[in-house]
Amino acid sequence: RKTVWKLSTGSKELDNILDGGLESQSVTEFAGMFGSGKTQIMHQACVNLQCEDRIIADDSIKDEILEKPLKAVYIDTEGTFRPERIMQMAEALGIDGKDVLDNTFVARAYNSDMQMLFAEKIEDLIKEGHNIKLVVVDSLTSTFRNEYTGRGKLAERQQKLGRHMATLNKLADLYNCVVIVTNQVAARPDAFFGSSEQAIGGHIVGHAATFRIFLRKAKGDKRVAKLYDSPHLPDAEAMFRITEKGIHD
Ligand code: GTP
Ligand code: MG
Repeated sequence: RKTVWKLSTGSKELDNILDGGLESQSVTEFAGMFGSGKTQIMHQACVNLQCEDRIIADDSIKDEILEKPLKAVYIDTEGTFRPERIMQMAEALGIDGKDVLDNTFVARAYNSDMQMLFAEKIEDLIKEGHNIKLVVVDSLTSTFRNEYTGRGKLAERQQKLGRHMATLNKLADLYNCVVIVTNQVAARPDAFFGSSEQAIGGHIVGHAATFRIFLRKAKGDKRVAKLYDSPHLPDAEAMFRITEKGIHD
């Protein structure tokens, strides 16, 4: 097993409850309602990957990771990737946003088959020599939720989502990548999808994600992140902000 490393979220408080940051060789799930900040966290991670002091690693592993330019793959299922937001976040850190964009492969997935295929193709990119150390799936569940509706489709959805998560976990493990995914949660779960459906989706994702974070809105630009059900870490809450600079304390 390779030594794990961590990628800062941009918020020290949030990094602290994660014992340093987003961990490699794991899948971390960010769940929350619309506007809770899931997509913003995904964007910030792509920017932070290009910022050497936001990569937390022992010297030996750091040299190995930084041997070649770091690259991210951003699987965008909702069309919400915003290059200009990346530029803005990069500028706030004094790095060149153009570099971030050059080192971020954005793959727009219009359905779950495309989403699964993109995830499977990441290994080929790595074998071609791309130093991919961050994989983002935003959103993990929206295509599945849209396509597999009704009770008759639940088993198939569960099986496909499970396979997709296995692909992501394998990438994380084999190539020492940070993998982060988003999962929308409705204001009133039963108003959006049946409670039994939620249990199945939640169950599959819950077992496949090592770290689970629930985001909720607080006053103004403040957000609360709650880490829960994680194997080695206690449940804990952190407060962060989303401003024009990006994600920070
Ligand atoms: P859904 O994908 O709809 O489920 O929501 P989400 O959790 O992905 O929310 P997202 O990350 O898109 O957060 C949206 C919030 O981030 C907005 O309500 C704003 O508060 C903030 N935000 C997004 N873009 C900007 C920006 O360019 N500047 C500032 N200051 N805030 C922004
Ligand atoms: Mg979003």
